[in-house]
Amino acid sequence: PIRGPVLGLEASCDETAAALLAPDGTILAEAVRSQLAEHTPFGGVVPEIAARAHLAHLPALAAQVMGQAGVRPAELGGIAATAGPGLIGGLIVGASFGKGMAIAHNLPFVAVNHLEGHALTARLPLLRQTGVVEGEVAFPYLLLLLSGGHCQCVAVEGLGRYRRLGSTLDDAVGEAFDKSAKLMGLPWPGGPALEKLAASGDPMRFPLPRPMLGRPGCDFSFSGLKTAVAQLVPKLENEQDRADLAAAFQRVVAVVLADRARNALAMLPDATAMVVAGGVAANQGVRAALAAEAGRAGLPLVAPPIRLCTDNAVMIAWAGIERLRAGLTDGLDHAPRPRWPL
Ligand code: KG4
Ligand code: ZN
Repeated sequence: PIRGPVLGLEASCDETAAALLAPDGTILAEAVRSQLAEHTPFGGVVPEIAARAHLAHLPALAAQVMGQAGVRPAELGGIAATAGPGLIGGLIVGASFGKGMAIAHNLPFVAVNHLEGHALTARLPLLRQTGVVEGEVAFPYLLLLLSGGHCQCVAVEGLGRYRRLGSTLDDAVGEAFDKSAKLMGLPWPGGPALEKLAASGDPMRFPLPRPMLGRPGCDFSFSGLKTAVAQLVPKLENEQDRADLAAAFQRVVAVVLADRARNALAMLPDATAMVVAGGVAANQGVRAALAAEAGRAGLPLVAPPIRLCTDNAVMIAWAGIERLRAGLTDGLDHAPRPRWPL
């Protein structure tokens, strides 16, 4: 049994996050600090700046969640820190800080794969309590990981049992949103800005390629779409044109994702649910297309609240709890891995 609350730490990209979960998965406290302000002047995440910002803010965030929940370090049941994949500087900061606490207070340490965190979020008790899912999301289920750094269809068959069904051949879907938005003159990160602009656009005005549509399997490709956007941008004359292109882009992405998801479900006939995670899961057009596709297969679409879809430490603490329950811990010599496939 887990002795007390589990502290989760996340510092693999550009959010610094800490969260404290009770052994049953109840969220006791959570905090996220985005580094948007630090990276925006550069139009993307600068690894060195990210690592330094994690170093500056992670200890205070950890203290904050512990303080909010009134939990002392000695009362913890374990420390779970993201140890990959991601930017190595941040991974070292997060994992080392976690190991330090584990040594100081003689606690079990869990090195969490960030992707496993996303994959297991659907099983958080919170989702049952808030009615997002009815019972516990049971294995196996299909995970669509749709973020700025990752774009994969994964069969989640059990704890530690993940089978990649397909992935992107070029850009991640969030990256495609960001690059196309940039071409259209929108601020970074482009996904949310593009969605806003698309709301007043006509998705049928500009015909765009639909990469991979109808192909077997569930790999993705987005670079051709980005090229098509680049060719149309110089022809745009007014705000309505830009909105129409944004709407067309978003529509094509949603259609392609739904097509890929359909094939992925066919590869996992005993799936109990379709689960989305990653920043792009915040996109309403994408959600609607995926919900329709899941519905056609008679399955629920499990879309965690947006704060749990984007990078956070709740998912890291929860993955830690699932691992601790299974008796899995890591040594203090565990080395963070910038590349760490599921
Ligand atoms: O999961 P995430 O917060 O960070 C990682 O990449 O790990 O995902 C960020 C990505 C960015 O590419 C961002 O543009 C995209 O998610 N994104 C969106 C939306 N919100 C965030 N893309 C489309 N529509 C959105 N509403
Ligand atoms: Zn992520």
